[in-house]
Amino acid sequence: DARRTPMIAGNWKMNLDHLQAVALVQKLHWALKDARHEPGSVEVALFPPFTDLRTVQTLLDADKIPFALGAQDLSAHESGAYTGEVSGAFLARLDCRYVIIGHSERRAYHDETDEVVAAKVQAALRHSLVPVICVGETAEDLQTHGASAVPVGQLQAALAGVASGAEVVVAYEPVWAIGSGQAATPDQAQEVCATLRDVVAAAIGADAAARTRVLYGGSVKSGNIAAFMREPDVDGALVGGASLVADEFAAIIRYQK
Ligand code: G3P
Repeated sequence: DARRTPMIAGNWKMNLDHLQAVALVQKLHWALKDARHEPGSVEVALFPPFTDLRTVQTLLDADKIPFALGAQDLSAHESGAYTGEVSGAFLARLDCRYVIIGHSERRAYHDETDEVVAAKVQAALRHSLVPVICVGETAEDLQTHGASAVPVGQLQAALAGVASGAEVVVAYEPVWAIGSGQAATPDQAQEVCATLRDVVAAAIGADAAARTRVLYGGSVKSGNIAAFMREPDVDGALVGGASLVADEFAAIIRYQK
């Protein structure tokens, strides 16, 4: 849909220290330079660990590299006695435009409930950060409830209280597809992504839904990205493992070629 710029996002998770980050960003930039995709045709966004953000920000700025920057999480709180937390204000100061919220790893290992996710979405929006709201079903959910029920409930909860017209990104990541090498089929992704767009429409309006990027994530590689991108409601990908290898991530970004 022409109203939506496709987005290819790299979630590095807990990989690459700040020196390794510099090497990867430089390699990626060079890999894209010799086969330049049309300017602005795809938005590339990187989600390094917190400790890399300042370094990556400086590099993007100094070398005028056109990648957007985001964080993998933020605190629901504004400031104060929250040891170990990172605020939305700090991320905004580092030129982060995006922040991933509710990744399945945080839901699973850090007990992030739908309420916590919703509070973090509000915190992001207070600082003009665009939340990348992650939703997805486990293999067990898929068996018992089908593909859509759990992600729909998670997204409804995350968007409760979000103002009409707000900018958000949605990432549909079936938990069984993450890091497993077993991606969803393009058909499966399309079906759930279309349903999630309806949830966005009901929560924040049809216009906003038409502008919202809905990404697919889970074992995306250079070999399967094009098939996902042909689906009308899949507007990009949230890539884990394959975003850590410059040539592979560059090939994903150049999926049209
Ligand atoms: O957030 C991206 C992610 O969870 C997908 O990981 O390694 O399957 O691409 P991966």
